[in-house]
Amino acid sequence: MKIIVTRPIPRAGIDILKQAAHEVLVLPHDRPCTRSELLAATQNAQGLLTMLTDKIDDDFLQQRPSVKAIANYAAGYNNIDITACQSRGIHVSNTPDVLTDATAEIAWTLLMMAARRAGEGERMVRNAQWTGWGPMQLQGMSILGQTLGIIGAGRIGSRVAQIATAFGMQLLYVHRRETEPMAQLEARRVTLPELLKESDFISLHVPLLADTHHLIGAKELHMMKKTSILINTARGPVVDEAALVEALKSKTIFAAGLDVYEEEPKIHPGLLALENVTMLPHIGSATVRARSEMSKLAAENLLAMLRGQRGKTQVV
Ligand code: DGY
Repeated sequence: MKIIVTRPIPRAGIDILKQAAHEVLVLPHDRPCTRSELLAATQNAQGLLTMLTDKIDDDFLQQRPSVKAIANYAAGYNNIDITACQSRGIHVSNTPDVLTDATAEIAWTLLMMAARRAGEGERMVRNAQWTGWGPMQLQGMSILGQTLGIIGAGRIGSRVAQIATAFGMQLLYVHRRETEPMAQLEARRVTLPELLKESDFISLHVPLLADTHHLIGAKELHMMKKTSILINTARGPVVDEAALVEALKSKTIFAAGLDVYEEEPKIHPGLLALENVTMLPHIGSATVRARSEMSKLAAENLLAMLRGQRGKTQVV
């Protein structure tokens, strides 16, 4: 069987695929494939190991009828048209669990950096603008003992919440049902307006779906405390970026920490001009361990699905 890996990934997964004696082609460029590159490379391929930067839609699938299984190298799979895959009998898997800790760490990195204005401080030092200790300089927000609101209490949201207990934080969450891990942390399940009004920090952990697109817009940002901080490590379009720019500019909220953007890799010019936003380049899962485990899991899923078995983390 012919398998295409659309970008170089850690060796572990490639070795697994090659040991299974398949024809494995890893596309060499470390950048998103263009549509024509993807179409050219995937001719007669049965298995695809795709990235979140690959748009797998109905039009693509129609042109590649040989494809039987797609293993996405990410927990999120909003880059793949799942309905189109289902109607064509194509199996799809993702890589949850193995990146939970790494992504929770990045949410906390952003939370701490945004609260303590670490990015601003670092820029000041690097640009030789620091003139020495100042009594009024870079006053940020306290973290210990504050209230953290988690929107989407799945694996990553729950892990972010668990880490918060070391900071003596109160926990609120929004989720479609009560969950055992959040109950164990004595987190209170509330409505979205309640969470927005009561939290000092809000961390987003929902998948990108039709009903989570712009879940946080102007109305929601105005419900938040003026001293609050919004963290997004989920997907960019969950937040209305233009509304966020306005809220940060007008100090409707204190700060934001972002790892994801509405039109990656483009960044809203308004964000670039602001000091009270900490921005990272979508590195939630970027640890050596997580990426290696993602590579293995994606490869194992792909082989299982091509053999007609169920992948360990198969979506459809
Ligand atoms: C995911 O897995 O969805 C992450 O965004 C990838 O880093």
